[in-house]
Formats: sequence, structure tokens, C-alpha cells
Amino acid sequence: MKDLLQQFTDLRFGIFIHYGLYSIPGGIWKGKAQGRNAYAEWIKYQALWPDGGPIPDEEYDALANEFTAEEFDPAAWAREIRNAGAGYVVITAKHHDGFAMYDTSVSSYNVVRKTPFGRDLIGEFKKACDHEGILFGAYYSHWLDWHEAGGGKPHWPAIPGDPEIVQPSQQAYGEYFSGKCLPQIRELLDNYGIRLFWLDCWAKSPLLTPERLERLMDLIHSRGGIVNSRIGVTWNHPDGNNAGIDYLSMPDNTFPAESISRPWETSGTFNESWGYSKRDFHWKSVRELLCNLISNASKNGNYQLNIGPLPNGAIPGASIRRLREIGAWLAVNGEAVYGTGTSGLPEPEWGRITRGKDGSLYCHLMTPPDDRRIVIAGMEQKPHSAVLLESGEAVPFSWNNGQLCLELPPEASLIDLPVIKVTC
Ligand code: GLC
Repeated sequence: MKDLLQQFTDLRFGIFIHYGLYSIPGGIWKGKAQGRNAYAEWIKYQALWPDGGPIPDEEYDALANEFTAEEFDPAAWAREIRNAGAGYVVITAKHHDGFAMYDTSVSSYNVVRKTPFGRDLIGEFKKACDHEGILFGAYYSHWLDWHEAGGGKPHWPAIPGDPEIVQPSQQAYGEYFSGKCLPQIRELLDNYGIRLFWLDCWAKSPLLTPERLERLMDLIHSRGGIVNSRIGVTWNHPDGNNAGIDYLSMPDNTFPAESISRPWETSGTFNESWGYSKRDFHWKSVRELLCNLISNASKNGNYQLNIGPLPNGAIPGASIRRLREIGAWLAVNGEAVYGTGTSGLPEPEWGRITRGKDGSLYCHLMTPPDDRRIVIAGMEQKPHSAVLLESGEAVPFSWNNGQLCLELPPEASLIDLPVIKVTC
């Protein structure tokens, strides 16, 4: 478990995948954009919101007949992830709609039984990732399940006039929990060998009692697995200690200002939605995404970037281009991210500093100063070399009593996100 957590932490960069029945409507239901929430995987509850309740089961479930995924190519997905420089992937094994994307004997509401595609999507993708040496993880919606009477229903601040949402009773949730949730997670552990888990409860839900949380954690830990804080422990531990969980998940697309000593990650979107959305063109720039990755590493954190495949299983072109550009930058500068963590030095105005395991410092120049002079104070040791990673060129420096001054070569300003490696 310790080794797995260390491996996960050192990888620093992962990919999230949201793929399911919701990918088919892509945020649009009967010609109308879904309600308030930009998350297309929420369409079952959001389609008519706030003017109406969820899409009736029969209508939503009929989407399964259209799930043909003819472009789904697990080997191509895995190659794309590896080439992006990401070391792990977490895919939706079951999202809030309750539909399992793998071969489960616990419920027939699954991709193998209900769709013309009829294949074990998670199983095939796991094999392809194993082949590429990518650590494989499962997202599992343990709290919300909109297919089961006992599954949790959406929790959001009620705005006057909103349709009422009725939560299941403790007993009904308990039946769902023991009858579907635990056995399905056990299948992911034992039939698929999955050890990295991303569970998803971000609110204070009375359904997730301490006993239930403990059973879930024990199950995952008994097989050497690791699990994130969205299992729902946060509210039980007001001291922020999050006892029992292995790594913290920040709220969506949230980047802490300070470094955190225990393992943590931010999950983020390329655009806004997690599931494929036909109307979401808010693509972030490669520079912004790389800065997020670098900044998280400088604070001991990971970054998990999401792909929402098209209904046919292809990865959207806008994501592919960004993945490849990130991969190209990492192919040159990866050592400044992988296995690095906080430098312990104050965060500079011109960017971020990461520290490698051997003590090397990596200066990430996000906004190099006009006079091209970089000053780093508070260093313990005099460096013996400084090089620009992309060109291998030596960077002239001077040292004065714990203060390092680097003279940026003029061509550094032509490199996007240049990194200077300082070795002591
Ligand atoms: C939220 C959303 C969910 C998404 C997740 C990713 O919990 O409900 O749709 O999967 O964030 O971080």
C-alpha cells in the first residue's frame, strides 16, 4: 500500500476518463441544453432542471441501445496516455447514473449486458494500460446511484421553486450499499486487480455513516489498495486529518496555494464538463494546463486531467492535441516534474521551483523578469551547475551567501516554459 501510494505520488501526472451512457446525449436532451450544471454526465438529473425532475429510467436506459462505441480502441487510448507523459489513469467504472462499464455479476445494468457494444470496456482498457505500464484506477460512485431506489440522489443547495429531491432512507441506502456498492467494488479489486480507487462524495451525507466508510476503506485496504478523500471522510474529521484515506482530492479544478505534506491531487478538466459535452468549447490552453501541473508538483501534489471520449469512443481532437503538446513538453522537461516535490524555498514571482529526490532544483520560468536575472534566496548549498533543460546550455550564475543569481540566456525567452536545472 505504501509502495503504491509512493508510486502514485511520484507519477505526478494522471488522466481521468468519464465515459458512459451520458456521453451519447453530450449535454443536450431533445434539442435542449441541460439545466444549470455544465457537467454533461449529470444529464439524467439535469436535462429538465430546474423545470422538471430526472429523465425517467425507461428513457435514460434506452441510451444503452445506442452505445455502439465503434471507435473504442483501448490500445490507442493507452498509447495516447503514455505519450502524454501521464503515468496513471482513472476511469469511470460506474458513475452517478449507476451504469457499470464492466462485466459485473452484481447488476445486469452494465455495458456487457445492455448495449450492442457488448464488451467489457474496463477489462479491455485495463489490459491495454498494463501493457503500456500505466497504473490503472477506477472511479466508482458509491454515494450517488440514480438507478437504484436505495442510491443517493443529488445534493445541491435547494433554490426556492426547485423540484424536491427525496433521499433514500437509511435502510434503503444500506441495502444498496451492501447489495451493490460493496460487491461491485470487490469485483473491481478481485476480478480486475484494480488497486487505485477514486470514490466520489464531496458533501456531508448522513448516508455515509462512519461504519459504512470504514467497511469500504477496510475492503480496499485489505487488498493493498488506496483510496481518495472523496470517499466522504472529510466531514467526519473536522481536524482535517482525514484518517484512513490515502490521498486527498481537491474540489474539482481547485489548486491550493500552499504545499501539503500528505499525498494529494487535483482533478481537472480540459474544458468544463467531465463527460463529453457538445456545447462545451471552453478549452484551456496547454500553457495553463502545464502551469497547473508544475505548480501542483511544487506543492507535493498530482494533477489528473480529464478526457471525455465521444459517444463512439474516440478521444476528442481538442484533447488529443493538448495531450500531445503536454507530452512533448514532458519528454524534454519530465525530470523537473516526475518524482519531484516542494523545494522548501519561498514561491518566486517568476514561476515555481520543484526539487528532485537527489536535491536538484528545477526553476520553472513561467514569467521570466525583463532583466533576465533570477534571484533565489535561502539556499543552503552553493550550486555547481545550472543548465537550461531544453538546450542543455550552461546558465551563468553567481553565488553570494546563500543567494543564487542566474543570468538567463537571451534565447530562454524564446522557449515556452523553460526550466533551469540547478545542481548542488
Ligand atoms: C463531481 C461530479 C462528477 C465528476 C467529479 C470529478 O463529483 O459530480 O460528475 O465525476 O466531480 O471530479
